[in-house]
Amino acid sequence: MPGILLGELFPNFEADTTSGRIKFHDFLGDSWGILFSHPADYTPVCTTELARAAKLTDEFKKRGVKMIALSIDSVEDHKNWSKDVMAYANEAGSPLPFPIIADEKRELSVQLGMLDPDERNKAGLPLTARCVFVIGPDKKLKLSILYPATTGRNFDEILRVIDSLQLTAQKKVATPVDWKPGEKVMVVPSLPDSEATALFPNGVTTKEMPSGKKHVEVL
Ligand code: BEZ
Repeated sequence: MPGILLGELFPNFEADTTSGRIKFHDFLGDSWGILFSHPADYTPVCTTELARAAKLTDEFKKRGVKMIALSIDSVEDHKNWSKDVMAYANEAGSPLPFPIIADEKRELSVQLGMLDPDERNKAGLPLTARCVFVIGPDKKLKLSILYPATTGRNFDEILRVIDSLQLTAQKKVATPVDWKPGEKVMVVPSLPDSEATALFPNGVTTKEMPSGKKHVEVL
């Protein structure tokens, strides 16, 4: 079955984009990456999403995340659509600050399992869903979220999730429900208490559960 699972090496595909031809791993370099797909160019929800992503480029840059979008139309269409996107973002005349992949033959969309069988164009061909892939500096897939074409994404949540991925890649912690940067995190349950106190010298808080299990938190 096509698609990609968490922990798998993200394919080093070649593609035409609005910034020329790329090899994906070279495009990423040593950075984190985010690839988000769109059902089609010029559609209203996609335009709002790309405009929001454009407005957030400094936030992605701050986190060392390279951005790239994908849609199943041509480079020419992408370039023209980008003008609408930047106008919608109240930055008419500025270039879209990240490239868009032109997956006209849908080869990449099939390879990465991005097609939505319930959403079709006028010719009856399936459109791409709204996929979000976050790729680590090791080129492995760290997160994948799949939204149907009819539901626009929440880019605040995408940034929040990147903050969690980057924190938990560095420290032996996991982020609890609705966590935001600066809030308490849980020490991973597999870490022995002795190691937890050594790794978190500023102290940990332990909460006893009725089951007798312990939740170890740290700020
Ligand atoms: C949109 O981006 O507006 C859209 C695309 C495909 C289906 C529904 C909405």
